[in-house]
Amino acid sequence: MKRWMQYVKPYTKYFILGPLCMIVEVLGEVLMPKLYSMIVKRAEENLVAETGDIWFVVGMAALMILVAILMMIGGVGGAYFGAKASVNFGSDLRLDVYKKVQKFSFANIDKFQTGSLITRLTNDVTQVQNFVNMLLRMFLRNPGMLIGAVIMTITISPKLALILAVAIPLLSVLLFVVMKVGFPRFGAMQGKVDALNNTVGENFTNIRVVKSFVREDYEQEKFAEANDNLRNAAMRAMNVMILTQPIMILVMNLTTLAVVWFGGNMVLGGTLPYSDFNALLTYINQILMSLMMVTMLFMNASRAAASAKRISEVLSETPDINDDTAEHKDRAVEHGAVQFKNVSFRYYKNSPDCVLENINFDIRAGETLGIIGGTGSGKSTLVSLIPRLYDADDGEILIDGVNVRDYSLHALREGIGMVLQKNLLFSGTVAENLRWGDEEATLEEMKAAADTAQADSFIESFTDGYAHEIERGGANVSGGQKQRLCIARALLKKPKILILDDSTSAVDTATEAKIREAFATTLKSSTKIIIAQRITSVMDADRILVLDDGKIAGLGTHDELLTSCEEYKEIYSLQMENKGVAANG
Ligand SMILES: Nc1ncnc2c1ncn2[C@@H]1O[C@H](COP(=O)(O)OP(=O)(O)O)[C@@H](O)[C@H]1O
Ligand SMILES: [Mg+2]
Repeated sequence: MKRWMQYVKPYTKYFILGPLCMIVEVLGEVLMPKLYSMIVKRAEENLVAETGDIWFVVGMAALMILVAILMMIGGVGGAYFGAKASVNFGSDLRLDVYKKVQKFSFANIDKFQTGSLITRLTNDVTQVQNFVNMLLRMFLRNPGMLIGAVIMTITISPKLALILAVAIPLLSVLLFVVMKVGFPRFGAMQGKVDALNNTVGENFTNIRVVKSFVREDYEQEKFAEANDNLRNAAMRAMNVMILTQPIMILVMNLTTLAVVWFGGNMVLGGTLPYSDFNALLTYINQILMSLMMVTMLFMNASRAAASAKRISEVLSETPDINDDTAEHKDRAVEHGAVQFKNVSFRYYKNSPDCVLENINFDIRAGETLGIIGGTGSGKSTLVSLIPRLYDADDGEILIDGVNVRDYSLHALREGIGMVLQKNLLFSGTVAENLRWGDEEATLEEMKAAADTAQADSFIESFTDGYAHEIERGGANVSGGQKQRLCIARALLKKPKILILDDSTSAVDTATEAKIREAFATTLKSSTKIIIAQRITSVMDADRILVLDDGKIAGLGTHDELLTSCEEYKEIYSLQMENKGVAANG
């Protein structure tokens, strides 16, 4: 509850004004039938006395018009303040969910899945927001109307009010059942919305791959299945409402029937004036309508509660990588020496097999380390532990002798330039993309970084150069160009540790050699960790680490490994045989 109150607080004014306006409206609504019946009553009396009293009718009519105007003002005000309160509530909530997700580690995101996070941020927040709006407009109005109308009924005829003593508990039980059955069904329905969003998200972000493999039909089937599941879950949830409606209406009609039967007899017997009977019917109708609205409110409550729970799950998730206990928060990465001590890691914490097992090695500041090994051997995983994209399960990783967990996350990641294997550019100009590395970079600095990454010449070949627009994901540049832009972006951070994860795989060998040469002169003092498939990419590194199935199979210079490491020899001879193919990588 405390969680939700914080979104109410800044808008308390609207949260109070909205329902207050609704009270004005409801007072009018309860008053109107009474005023009307007073006119009818006077008319009856006048008929008996055979006198005309037009001014009473005119006065009452004027009063009714005044009440109607007040009701209108109340209604409009209630809707306006209700909307203002709920929309602000929703927008603040959405922002907080978004901020929270930004703090998530890769593992947190793996846990929720992107599609589900999107549903929670959009659809679920909207559900809650709509409910808040409904609540503000109804929570005083309907109980208000209910109580007002019950009081009126009792003052008119306590005897007939007894009928309500049967009808109201009956409807309340019905309400309870609706809640009980509805809640889990709405929860399940939101789960299916997640699944649908996951499918759509995956398809839309990879639409190029889908098309190039002509997999549209398969993807359509996958979507149809998710869509069917959603439809069925939605039907199951709706069925609760569909069944409730006729039962409620039946109870309402029976109640009205009872009032007409008993009330009618009283009118005939002369114990109840016709004008009162008339007003009574209106009040009974109001009572039943407001009960119906309360049911609707509860039904929406069960739906919103399911959404609220899902939002809470995100908000209360602790980002499992944080720097709360870091001991050297103001320390920056100074030199860039890296040390792995008995490091083990697994993605699924209860799986018996480690992805990395007992990794031990040292890199001196300024050294270049090549990493080579088959796909799935754990190369990407190993380097992702350095900027703490994931945390090691056992052992420790030290930078300049300090555990990576003792740096602030900001300082740690500031000191490391990493080009991920699945690198991405964002929509915006070339310059905007490069400035991800350094927001304040001048054109000269950008050119220098691009020059080192061998990107300057092709950027200059665009008619608009550094102002050239990149499409989302970097769709309008070639794979090799994208890689070089990503390298330039990382270089602009002037990192103490530069990590390239297979970042030149789409670059031709001659250009790649130029990049390596440029590194040797412009990045002398930075530690460089270079993962590659091609042995030629790492051959002249100071040392090469050979990974095999999560374990270190060898560590040394190219020449040392050729004599000492079987796995290395194997990769070498294989690639030398297929040199022509490898060079086209
Ligand atoms: N996010 C992830 N969740 C679960 N398993 C993963 C994840 N990323 C990689 N793996 C698994 O960990 C192993 C090592 O992967 P990776 O480090 O990417 O290998 P490499 O980069 O050498 O090809 C593989 O078996 C892979 O399937
Ligand atoms: Mg990899």
